[in-house]
Amino acid sequence: MQTFIKDLSTEVGEEVTIKGWLNNKRSSGKIAFLEIRDGSGFAQAVAVKEGLPAEVWEAIDKTTQESSVEVTGKVTKHPKQEGVYELQIIPSASSGQASFKIIQLAQEYPISKKDHGPEFLMDNRHLWLRSKKQWAILRIRDTVETAINKYLHSENFIRTDSPIFTPNACEGTTTLFPVPYFDLGTAYLSQSGQLYIEAAIASVGRCYDFGPVFRAEKSATKRHLTEFWMMDAEAAFVEHDENLKIQENLVKAIVKKCLEDCQQEFKILERDVTALRVMVDKPFVRYTYDEAIKKLNKLGSDIKHGEDLGNDDEGLLTKDSDVPVFIEKWPKNIKPFYMKIDPGNSDLVLNDDLIGIEGAGELIGGSQREDDYDLLIERIGHEGLSEKDYEWYLDLRKYGSVPHSGFGIGVERVVRWISGAEHIRECVPFPRTINRLRP
Ligand code: 4AD
Ligand code: MG
Repeated sequence: MQTFIKDLSTEVGEEVTIKGWLNNKRSSGKIAFLEIRDGSGFAQAVAVKEGLPAEVWEAIDKTTQESSVEVTGKVTKHPKQEGVYELQIIPSASSGQASFKIIQLAQEYPISKKDHGPEFLMDNRHLWLRSKKQWAILRIRDTVETAINKYLHSENFIRTDSPIFTPNACEGTTTLFPVPYFDLGTAYLSQSGQLYIEAAIASVGRCYDFGPVFRAEKSATKRHLTEFWMMDAEAAFVEHDENLKIQENLVKAIVKKCLEDCQQEFKILERDVTALRVMVDKPFVRYTYDEAIKKLNKLGSDIKHGEDLGNDDEGLLTKDSDVPVFIEKWPKNIKPFYMKIDPGNSDLVLNDDLIGIEGAGELIGGSQREDDYDLLIERIGHEGLSEKDYEWYLDLRKYGSVPHSGFGIGVERVVRWISGAEHIRECVPFPRTINRLRP
């Protein structure tokens, strides 16, 4: 039977078998220290040559980094380190089962301890994933995704999902990826499933989708992927203010869950989580777009009213903040057609961008949606989009239209922030950027 390394603490004094890979080995020729990983964690196995069957020591002696192995030994508590458990490969009087079997002897592994450049590591992403830091990031990503699902269900959202092949744009036509689609012409890879979950709320009230979305964005930054994972949430009868509340509570729920479940991962990543601990108990800051521009100009940015914020602006605006910052009510001219016009100022829309702390950049984009049929037609026309393409979407405003709002959160942006990873390409197992399609 296989025991997982994460469960060794409950097996002290027992003989168990773990199955995994050799991470590292040190040997004096008489005693060997083998670091084994099995996906659930890392543990050291200690083998003493004397007393071991010759073939067991031989296997230990010849095993190489990354060889897949099966190790049987007795679980002991580390003599000095609290919470650390080891496996002693010594034949026990009771069973004599101690063993070390090589499942496959690995060839010389291309990734060594020395520093490799990012291109080399990305070329070997299929192997690099095994390294401790990448393991930790993968686990934080899983925790983020789990926390999102859990929080949304607690707020009565159900998961409905959206198509990936779409006939038209959601977020502007400049970043679409076209795909030839049989006799039907050109399909586009989805930029966001939002429009589809807007339809689904009239069935289920509150829902979300969670999947890959695509942007042919020529931005080679530390925060841009061409394929990234987005969770779009949408809720009937929720207006602008409540929309922001849901976003704030979601982000706090994600961070709380990571603080609870990812201590080991943060340690491996040498991530100081003080800022995360501080932010979960404080209300987020809100600026209107107008206020944000004025503040930025005061801080030395030359951004003009009517322009989108760049990376530097986002950094400047949040550099002294210990909580994420909402920027709400943007000029309608620089935002998509579906956002609801602000009843207080028809040049603005009821939307928000949530800018993270610690250089995280934009984490969420959201808005209340235009629920009036005539106003929506006007916006579609104004953006030069074809009314015909959006016929089905317009239908939603004909049959029981309700005030509704939603938002989309970029999973890799959140993982990058929480894990403290330098670059977003480390926050998805197999990143796609403008210059990377392999492996
Ligand atoms: O702000 P965006 O473009 O919003 C939408 O797509 C809306 N339809 C969402 C909605 O209301 N349902 O994208 C949402 C989030 C951004 O805030 C950012 O976190 C992430 O998606 N994002 C990217 N992440 C990685 N690489 C890119 N190229 C990204 N573009 C956006
Ligand atoms: Mg946005």
